[in-house]
Amino acid sequence: MKFQKGKKLKKLGRNSPCPCGSGLKYKKCCLRKEKQVGNTKNLYFRKHKIRLKGEKDIEGIRKAGRLVLETLDLAESSIRPGMTTDEINTLIHDFTIKNNARPAPLNYRGFPKSTCVSVNEVICHGIPGKRILNDGDIVNVDVTSVLDGYYADANKTFFVGEPGTDAKKIVEVSKESMKLGISMVRPGNTIGDIGWAIQDYAEERDCSVVREFVGHGVGFEFHESPQVPHYGIRGDGIVLVSGMVFTIEPMINLGGKELQVLGDKWTAITLDGSLSAQFEQTVLVTEDGFESLTPYE
Ligand code: MF3
Ligand code: CO
Ligand code: CO
Repeated sequence: MKFQKGKKLKKLGRNSPCPCGSGLKYKKCCLRKEKQVGNTKNLYFRKHKIRLKGEKDIEGIRKAGRLVLETLDLAESSIRPGMTTDEINTLIHDFTIKNNARPAPLNYRGFPKSTCVSVNEVICHGIPGKRILNDGDIVNVDVTSVLDGYYADANKTFFVGEPGTDAKKIVEVSKESMKLGISMVRPGNTIGDIGWAIQDYAEERDCSVVREFVGHGVGFEFHESPQVPHYGIRGDGIVLVSGMVFTIEPMINLGGKELQVLGDKWTAITLDGSLSAQFEQTVLVTEDGFESLTPYE
């Protein structure tokens, strides 16, 4: 702070003119807003264990988000028939470290690798290994990076070589359902509105929505409150307020919604062996809608 000679710095009082220049008293303008923000923050933590994010946090998550998207681009440009899922893991691990970040999955609750790679009937949490990608496969790559202490989480499903009709359909439906879910995000809408939009669309296209895995708050930690189901009832659940950051990541199956977790305790596959696809973004609730912190088309 530099002091101007002769000018006495006036303390900002409740009755001072608001520094925002509205012409109103501070207490009737920005002080009131600041108190509201503070109250909501406390209320949402007390009631829902949701930690609302401030400007600095949001910038941190945005930055982590940019890295996550670059990482997904790297994966996409490397994927080809004949490669193993472990090669994707190595690429992602090395790129993350090179960019001064940490791959959140590594050692998370015992997960042994730096990313999840889920092929065809694998719904999610595929452990990278010796499985070879074949022409016509679909492969989901899920990247969560921690940069300067902030987490961003996103995934995409890619085609390996030339996709067949089923592969094209499930990838399109899962991507569109994520977009529809995101489009419901605005203050005043509820968590249930998001799940409802996704389920309504996916089932209309004769696909099914996985129930066991949900979107989640993210930013300070990998998985925070709230849970964000990809099915539900309009108007149900927690009311969205600005400063909330969570993922929307519907897992959509071509057949039934039932799943099975393999003996490795992670890999979730469709019980009927049908294809499953997923897209995920990390989304911020803004004053008038949403901003994706991992934006892609
Ligand atoms: N990235 C996944 C998600 O979207 C979580 C993976 S947990 C892990 O929530 F341990 F498998 F990495
Ligand atoms: Co997630
Ligand atoms: Co993820």
